[in-house]
Amino acid sequence: MTKRALITGITGQDGSYLAEFLLTQGYEVIGMVRRSSTVNFERIEHIQAQVTLATADLLDEVSLINLLREYQPHEVYNLAAQSFVQTSFSQPVFTGEVTALGVTRILDAIRIVNPEMRFYQASSSEMFGKVVEVPQTEQTPFYPRSPYGVAKVYGHWITVNYRESYNMFACSGILFNHESPRRGLEFVTRKISHAVARIKLGLDQELRLGNLEARRDWGFAPDYVRAMWLMLQQNEPDDYVVATGETRSVREFVEFAFSHVGLNYQDYVVQDERYMRPAEVDLLVGDPTKARTELGWQPEVTFEGLVKIMVDADVAMLKERLR
Ligand code: NAP
Ligand code: GDD
Repeated sequence: MTKRALITGITGQDGSYLAEFLLTQGYEVIGMVRRSSTVNFERIEHIQAQVTLATADLLDEVSLINLLREYQPHEVYNLAAQSFVQTSFSQPVFTGEVTALGVTRILDAIRIVNPEMRFYQASSSEMFGKVVEVPQTEQTPFYPRSPYGVAKVYGHWITVNYRESYNMFACSGILFNHESPRRGLEFVTRKISHAVARIKLGLDQELRLGNLEARRDWGFAPDYVRAMWLMLQQNEPDDYVVATGETRSVREFVEFAFSHVGLNYQDYVVQDERYMRPAEVDLLVGDPTKARTELGWQPEVTFEGLVKIMVDADVAMLKERLR
């Protein structure tokens, strides 16, 4: 029997990699997209012929019910969200509507249409925020530091609640930062790799950044989508931390990215108050022991490998554009 998976957020970084991965596993893939005045399918252009795109929105419950009724997926991966922390400070209510209540809408739609569908929720290490222990595990209490983090805590607990209340196969992956050449340009890693490439090619002279001392546990997005799928193949639903176990500062990322193309970051980086946050998450580092032992998951790309992949991809992309 061919398995059918619905991915919300298929046009995003993770959605595009998950769609690719599920296609290689023989799945029929349905991608939920929202209406926009311009098409934004860049990340899935290369697989568009192999997936079915259907319109619905996490803000609109009826659209979700109709979508599930029509396609009857066996697995639902809820990756859609307002996912940028900085924007959550300027649009906290909107972030709550999509990133928090959106989870209840889709869980409820599943409960109404067919509670046998397996569900994956994209939880986040941002929920640990001002961390109360190091490293962070599935047992570490949450202390979110942004409207986005607060919304993700809601999404996490409503997923637990539907599992316990309605016996649904609902899992959360508590994923630490994961990056790739498909990362949005507003996130710090891609902002850096793109700027390094532009500076190297003589298209820019400086890179303006906020807090260089923040530390993150950075992995490679294609490694992380495998973990999502593994969670839904287990006998019992559960929650898992997905991380590398290594923490690096934004400064280290910048330094390594510039040095990879033979430049010194201190000649180009300018600190700019505009990119500072009202409340910061200073240190994240996950303990992926449970994912390793129970799912057999482990990351394949190192921090240095990730930086190189991203910088090389941006240099190649810009060179191609300049031809
Ligand atoms: P992303 O690139 O920002 O993609 C977000 C996706 O959500 C896009 O496809 C977007 O559609 C869609 N979306 C936003 N609002 C929607 C709505 N109201 N209805 C339907 N779709 C909507 O995010 P990502 O990096 O792939 O992350 C995927 C998920 O994992 C997110 O939930 C994120 O919060 C979570 N997460 C990410 C990380 C990470 O490091 N990347 C770590 C932990 C958790 P448009 O293209 O139309 O905007
Ligand atoms: N975006 C950005 N831009 N961040 C900067 C900048 C800048 O110019 N300068 C310094 N930073 C710092 C931020 O203050 C933060 O401490 C760190 O770089 C990482 O910021 P982002 O790349 O925007 O990611 P994030 O950690 O806030 O959130 C991402 O990871 C979460 C998982 O922990 C997002 O993908 C979230 O959706 C995800 O849940």
